[in-house]
Amino acid sequence: MKDSNFLKEHNARNLWHPMTHPADSLANPPQIIVGGEGVHITDVDGHRTIDAVGGLWNVNLGYSCAPVKEAITAQMDKLPYYSIFRGTSNDVVIELSQMLKDFFEPDGLSRAFFTSGGSDSMEVALRLARQYHKIRGAAGRVKYLSLKKGYHGTHTLAASVNGNANFRTQYEPMMPGCFHIPAPYTYRNPFNETDPEKLAQLCLAALEDEIAFQGAETIAAFVMEPILGAGGVIPPHPSFMPGVRDICDRHGILLIADEVITAFGRTGDWTGSRHWGVRPDMSCTAKAITNGYFPFGAVMISDAIAEVFEGDKTGKGAIASGYTYSGHPVGAAAAVACLRETERLQVKDNAAARGAQMFEGMTRLAKTHEVIGDVRGGHGLMTAIELTSNRATKAGVDKKLIATLHQVTYEHGAMVRTSGSNIILSPPLIISEDEVARIIDALDAGLAAVS
Ligand SMILES: Cc1ncc(COP(=O)(O)O)c(C=O)c1O
Repeated sequence: MKDSNFLKEHNARNLWHPMTHPADSLANPPQIIVGGEGVHITDVDGHRTIDAVGGLWNVNLGYSCAPVKEAITAQMDKLPYYSIFRGTSNDVVIELSQMLKDFFEPDGLSRAFFTSGGSDSMEVALRLARQYHKIRGAAGRVKYLSLKKGYHGTHTLAASVNGNANFRTQYEPMMPGCFHIPAPYTYRNPFNETDPEKLAQLCLAALEDEIAFQGAETIAAFVMEPILGAGGVIPPHPSFMPGVRDICDRHGILLIADEVITAFGRTGDWTGSRHWGVRPDMSCTAKAITNGYFPFGAVMISDAIAEVFEGDKTGKGAIASGYTYSGHPVGAAAAVACLRETERLQVKDNAAARGAQMFEGMTRLAKTHEVIGDVRGGHGLMTAIELTSNRATKAGVDKKLIATLHQVTYEHGAMVRTSGSNIILSPPLIISEDEVARIIDALDAGLAAVS
């Protein structure tokens, strides 16, 4: 390995970091992570911290998950690649699809379409939704509705249903036919409503209103994260997603759940949809499906949709979506091992318990740190604090404050994620009570430094 001075000096010279201004990466060199063990990461200077980000919401089983590592190595030796395009398949992807069918059975999802990640999964689901309607003779159903604040990746169709201007403005025009309704975000919303249940009803009314305005017969699908993640951890009131399901059913609109973060235990249930008692028509997964060790994803599809495609005699049901790495045998082997380990450890239960601890800890910090404007979470290991320079006006905080908070928290033992004025916490689901307590203490120190 090159020495640490070389790495620090060259980092942003020859590479552009995702979701960052290139000049910012040059001016503020990132932490260079060189090792991972359990829930800890180690940087190039040998500083070891708890990874309260969990990779990027994906390393649910931590950095030392031997079964997944061994499965990857063994598959590399046996068959490192073969395509599953028409005419060929591989043994592990068949085994994986059977396991996923069982895992997603309570969600009513049985067929898997494999991808290389979350943006791919979203893109495929959106395309399949239009195709489903075309096969059924409803070719006019081409539009998508989604939530403001939602994040669905960066492919242009998926980015067009994103609900945050940051991911849109510099890439406009976005795809036509994508419309957004307010998110059930109690801290800031156009209705000035702080009661979660009332806000859920107002957002549902806005959805009904938009459907009437667009014409239900023009809408293919409604897309939502069961708990909004990248938008700043926004758990809707429990009535919201069932309300969306009901509205979609009444208007013949498909419900696509973006479970790229929420599938596989993060919410304290095996899926975010199950957390709210909803059966979506399609569910997009990626990230923790391989514990982040291999780029992989799967769109899960309901029986009802599958029957329309499989029963088609016109040829319209032929799927013209797919990636070179769809069903990659190494990714599939990683996913088989990961799913087994995820279920063996029943990580959803720890996510629920440790998530409650984290949420309680943040609520406690909000009592002593005036800079915390809002605390969100309480549904598994998805927690956020939103910072404000003025609790009365809810004004945001400047970038320097966030950078200081991040650095001091890091020095005190926890890597956290910052996004705008939000601090987002999504550690591995195997984290212990003591480690969560250490994250809370590190943040306490970070917050004290900016108070
Ligand atoms: C809810 C959601 N959907 C889609 C994506 C895009 O996934 P990827 O970055 O793997 O393309 C993400 C990524 O964070 C996500 O959080």
